[in-house]
Amino acid sequence: MAPSNIAFIKYWGKKDDRLRLPTNGSVSVNLSNLSTTTTVEFVRHLRTDQIEVNGVAVDDMNSRIGKHLDRIRQLFKTDLRAKVVSKNNFPTASGLASSASGFAALTLAAVKSIGLDLSERQISSLARQGSGSACRSIPDGFVEWREGNDDSSSYAESIFPAGHWDLSIVVCLFSDSPKKTLTTAGQNLAFTSPFFLTRLKKINDKIFTIKKLIEKRSFDEFGQLIEHEALELHAIMLTSTPPLIYWSPETVKLMKLIQELREDKGVPVYFTIDAGAHMHLICETGSLKKVISFLGRQDFIKQTIINKPFSGARVINQHLF
Ligand code: DP6
Repeated sequence: MAPSNIAFIKYWGKKDDRLRLPTNGSVSVNLSNLSTTTTVEFVRHLRTDQIEVNGVAVDDMNSRIGKHLDRIRQLFKTDLRAKVVSKNNFPTASGLASSASGFAALTLAAVKSIGLDLSERQISSLARQGSGSACRSIPDGFVEWREGNDDSSSYAESIFPAGHWDLSIVVCLFSDSPKKTLTTAGQNLAFTSPFFLTRLKKINDKIFTIKKLIEKRSFDEFGQLIEHEALELHAIMLTSTPPLIYWSPETVKLMKLIQELREDKGVPVYFTIDAGAHMHLICETGSLKKVISFLGRQDFIKQTIINKPFSGARVINQHLF
């Protein structure tokens, strides 16, 4: 089982596509209410991998999941095929990314099932090759992905345990439509933005600062920085060629309402946005009631999912077949 995670400082752009080495490090927290559970078994008589995700068979032999199983087979020097069943605990068509929790759960389950003895760091590096953000769902709590410059130096590790800071992360969903440009394709456009190199020049300072603010639990400065980072990420997306407009009218509406809620009513809550229209609102748990009652009055929000900081991927006693 592995949680999804939300990045405070984002991963966007790769310096090595094949290894999924990012152009910069990132910092995130694991989410308690968005997760993937996966069972993997390597079976002797199977001719091809049998993969089922959320009740649907994945037939494509060259699927990302199949390729990830190949990496694990190579490490273990086996050609045994696998049966894989995987389920998200959140609606698949919601537009919420499942690749982080999905590849983290697949990596841990496959490694344990085949009997590989790998460290957390090695499992994180391996998960990264399936989907970059998945490496951050392996360690516990608040996590930093160190950019690195080769396979073994690019991995994520815990910087603070989940209990370090009582934050609430409220995911707000507006529609059921899956996003049009998948993150992998979108990421490849990062270098076409005239602002991308400017972003990279300052990113290490941002990473240093966010870690300090998390350490000190300085909520307002932390909130301002994560909002700035989300808007900077979308400035890169909007100025790529072709441009990537992930926002919907509801995204902009909620951004403005959240700024008003802060300024007019003094409720300390900030937003972040990934490659999609939905938003993650972040507050200290002491303010959660006010945030929820405000969100309850907004009928353009279809669904909210409340999360706390959470542990990383782990083996649980639940088998899906
Ligand atoms: C905007 O990890 O989904 O959510 O490595 O191509 O699978 P791939 O990309 P992915 O990208 C996540 C991008 C992001 C920011 C973040 O999570 O850091």
